[in-house]
Amino acid sequence: MAALRRSGPAALAVVSSLLSHTLAIPFSTRDSNYTTLPINTTTSISFSPCPSDLKLPPSLECATYSVPIDWDTPSGEHFDLGLVRLPARANSTTKIGSLFVNPGGPGGSATETVAGIAEGVFPLPDALFEAFDIIGLDPRGIGFSQAVQCDQSIWAERVSWFPDTQEDYDKLVDKNRRYGESCREKTGPLLEYLDMVSIVKDHEAVRIALDNKPLNMVGLSYGSFLGMTYASLFPDSIRTLAIDGLLQHSQADSSNSFIESSAYTVSLKNFFQWASTDSSSPLKGLDVESIWASLRKNASSPLSASACDGTTNCASTVNAEEILWNAQQALVFKLPQITSSLSTWGTLASALFNATTRGEYSSFSKRLDDHAQMAGVAMACLDWAHDPSVFDLEYLRAKKHMAQTFFPLTGGQCQTVFEVHSCIGWPYAASNPQAPTRVETDFTVLAVASDADPSTGYTWGVGALQELGNKVFVTRKGDGHTSFFLGGETAGVMAEYLITGEAPERGLFLES
Ligand SMILES: *[C@@H]1O[C@H](CO)[C@@H](O)[C@H](O)[C@H]1NC(C)=O
Ligand SMILES: *[C@@H]1O[C@H](CO)[C@@H](O)[C@H](O)[C@H]1NC(C)=O
Ligand SMILES: *[C@@H]1O[C@H](CO)[C@@H](O)[C@H](O)[C@H]1NC(C)=O
Ligand SMILES: *[C@@H]1O[C@H](CO)[C@@H](O)[C@H](O)[C@H]1NC(C)=O
Ligand SMILES: *[C@@H]1O[C@H](CO)[C@@H](O)[C@H](O)[C@H]1NC(C)=O
Repeated sequence: MAALRRSGPAALAVVSSLLSHTLAIPFSTRDSNYTTLPINTTTSISFSPCPSDLKLPPSLECATYSVPIDWDTPSGEHFDLGLVRLPARANSTTKIGSLFVNPGGPGGSATETVAGIAEGVFPLPDALFEAFDIIGLDPRGIGFSQAVQCDQSIWAERVSWFPDTQEDYDKLVDKNRRYGESCREKTGPLLEYLDMVSIVKDHEAVRIALDNKPLNMVGLSYGSFLGMTYASLFPDSIRTLAIDGLLQHSQADSSNSFIESSAYTVSLKNFFQWASTDSSSPLKGLDVESIWASLRKNASSPLSASACDGTTNCASTVNAEEILWNAQQALVFKLPQITSSLSTWGTLASALFNATTRGEYSSFSKRLDDHAQMAGVAMACLDWAHDPSVFDLEYLRAKKHMAQTFFPLTGGQCQTVFEVHSCIGWPYAASNPQAPTRVETDFTVLAVASDADPSTGYTWGVGALQELGNKVFVTRKGDGHTSFFLGGETAGVMAEYLITGEAPERGLFLES
């Protein structure tokens, strides 16, 4: 569920669920009768040139829109959502409408993604720019939509995400509680309302205020969860929905860890093969799997990260759990198609090269300045169950044993674990915990997954088919997280669908 980030602060650490509708549903589902919002639909959004201090591409226009913090108390305190628009190039006869792009995360900024699109960072088909106003709406708590603020000195404290003793477990829970309290104090009451249902209602309010026409949406990674939740709550508000890098919000936590660890492992093995043979790799000709094993062995006690200052940028030492977490982020893009992204296989190869030749481990160090990760944890804590009476030491030890038994290469560390284990002890319970999403739409949803995705495992993609009624599923056979930005056949199929509204044939398997 990694965010797709246009650029970010530093090297490696940058990152930058079918119940067929004919089947009886054996557990509760979300209320799918939600068709109206308690808002004044006469208010509209007007865009103006973006403030120059935001340093956004000049082709973008900016706007804000005020929404209630708590949608169940619509007359209560409000705050501003921030959004950008890249106007369609075509004249009114060829323009179709608005295309919302959400990059996932949790914690990813849609305004930043659309800025990247405006700058031509991503190889998207021209036809998309002609057909749509491309809209980047930062989800509440992110970017221009009252970004979550927390005490970074608490974030910097090192605790184990996989404690072996009661003492270490208590440290994890205590840190998570204090960190959450600091976020509440610095962010305000919004921190308690960052769940996906609230985010979807914000999107629906913005859609109505834009022109009240059915929207088009690309939801990438965690954004697929946004898209599925939106379509389940407001099925008539959408013209086309392309979800890419599917995440199921219905599996048990143990299954999520298993699925993501399997995805990470498959991708890492493919990386070993690539890094030991590709001419661009500094590790060409070497046994990369044994370098990986040596790195993890060396990290049994913390390693020096000399390029980090330990307070503002990244931690001054790095341990095995942090290496595993950061290496997964680097697997997001195989090749640097996304020119300014540093989360690529080449960066990971370079980081391993520096480790093995110079004892230099800085690029594996934990970022201390990554606001997207902060917001991501705060959001995850509302969308994923983390009750300490269930997530106790016995449970965490069993999960670790499970991971080490089935996935020794990655040891169980992955984004799901990072986020959910950072929530044990969080001051707020999950208000929108896992439940199957039931998506019944008149239009066809386009669902895309790649079989070697390092983050949103293909298993989630196949599983999500049980929750989508009217859908077409496309498999990309290949490496890397999501397909929309890769400029290949899959991206072409997605663009064609968004423009024509016609889904491709069912069950496509594509090579790029
Ligand atoms: C939708 O509304 C109808 C009529 O009020 C009700 O019978 C049904 O249970 C509702 N469905 C859900 C999923 O809440
Ligand atoms: C809706 O907003 C418009 C414009 O701000 C205002 O004139 C009108 O009174 C509002 N209506 C309600 C019911 O609040
Ligand atoms: C608008 O676009 C259509 C289709 O490309 C074209 O035929 C028409 O001439 C354009 N109109 C203007 C005013 O540019
Ligand atoms: C691990 O440490 C050994 C002994 O210092 C060193 O030779 C080796 O290069 C290190 N490997 C990595 C990947 O850091
Ligand atoms: C590896 O070291 C080189 C030389 O100092 C540096 O340019 C490069 O950025 C480092 N790689 C990573 C991933 O930090």
